[in-house]
Amino acid sequence: MTRRKNFTKPDSILATAGRDPESNFGIVNPPVYHASTILFPTLDKYENRSPFDDYGYGRSGTPTQRALEEAVAAIEGAHRAVAVQSGLAAITGAILGFVKSGDHMLVVDNAYGPTRRFATTTLKNFGVETTFFDPMIGAGIEKLIRPNTKVVYLEAPGSLTFEVQDVATQAAIAKKHGAVVMIDNTWATPLYFRPFEQGCDISVHAGTKYIVGHSDAMMGLISCGSRAIFETVKTACQGFGYHAAPDDSYLALRGLRTMGVRVRHHEKSGLAIAEWLKSRPEVDKILHPAFPDCPGHENWKRQFKGSSGLFSFTLKDTHSRNAMAAMLDGMEIFGMGASWGGFESLILPAHPEQYRTAAPWPDGKQVFRVHIGLEDVEDLKGDLAAGLDRLTRAHNA
Ligand SMILES: Cc1ncc(COP(=O)(O)O)c(C=O)c1O
Repeated sequence: MTRRKNFTKPDSILATAGRDPESNFGIVNPPVYHASTILFPTLDKYENRSPFDDYGYGRSGTPTQRALEEAVAAIEGAHRAVAVQSGLAAITGAILGFVKSGDHMLVVDNAYGPTRRFATTTLKNFGVETTFFDPMIGAGIEKLIRPNTKVVYLEAPGSLTFEVQDVATQAAIAKKHGAVVMIDNTWATPLYFRPFEQGCDISVHAGTKYIVGHSDAMMGLISCGSRAIFETVKTACQGFGYHAAPDDSYLALRGLRTMGVRVRHHEKSGLAIAEWLKSRPEVDKILHPAFPDCPGHENWKRQFKGSSGLFSFTLKDTHSRNAMAAMLDGMEIFGMGASWGGFESLILPAHPEQYRTAAPWPDGKQVFRVHIGLEDVEDLKGDLAAGLDRLTRAHNA
């Protein structure tokens, strides 16, 4: 399936990429193909099938998965993308393509927790060494590169604390030393951050978040900057048996169509709520890349086109567990649970101080990570205000 016109504007790409009604009875959306066995009409076709371009077995992809991959590659400006079963699988699949025993990897200190854990457990057991680096180290990353550094892994802004790295500078340095540069681009989406224009080789997404957008499917996507990178990633994912299920690929492709309008709404409401929280007496800091006191704000301004609906805040006082429970248990709109990027608002207490090793989290305290959904902003403020009031009442009791 191919995009019929060579659109360059993101909203037009989102609406048109990865679908071809003319080859599908005029039906707007590509169908869901369920498959394990895929038949070949001749011995010649069977023997000469391409593991990258043909359909050979359900596990390695169907036209439904390929449609999603095409659309994601188109919106991100990638050579091709590989869809897998979750965002974490996208991260591990991408990394595993490029490291072997005896290699070294650099990972930003504020990377998503399970990314860190994968490096410090599974990869360590496989003989791959990881050094975590301060997200604000900038060009200082060069000093950490070793002759056996094969991967430089970035995430901007980082999970929970939202510091933004100087991606372009770090990517250029890593490439000079022959390392593959990967970035987790889930937060900004391809709409607000362009990894390949900043020198990255691979962009990974938890498609589970803004791409699916409705909190009802898991999905991972690995966008690859070149044919060689794509073949390495696809080979690694095939080898590990990674697979994106057809129904989930369909849901992700459907989510992608409306991602532009949704993300702009998340951004606008997120900024409004963050500004409002800043004015609350209980709140200490807002951790949001668009705020000038966020470490790396200048990097964000220079390299990003916008922000999404996920950020954190800290409180001035230390509160008892009972006070926290009073605040969180009574929320009427904000749900408490993992993930983000869906239509609904979420709040989660988190402890970055427990993760960091290269650059201790300077505040040393718990954060509240919020995802601002598509609900009415005044209703969201009301829910948070009532929660903060309950917190204060329980604190003073
Ligand atoms: C920044 C980031 N990357 C990757 C992931 C992993 O995605 P998934 O939950 O689909 O495995 C998450 C999940 O929360 C995330 O927040």
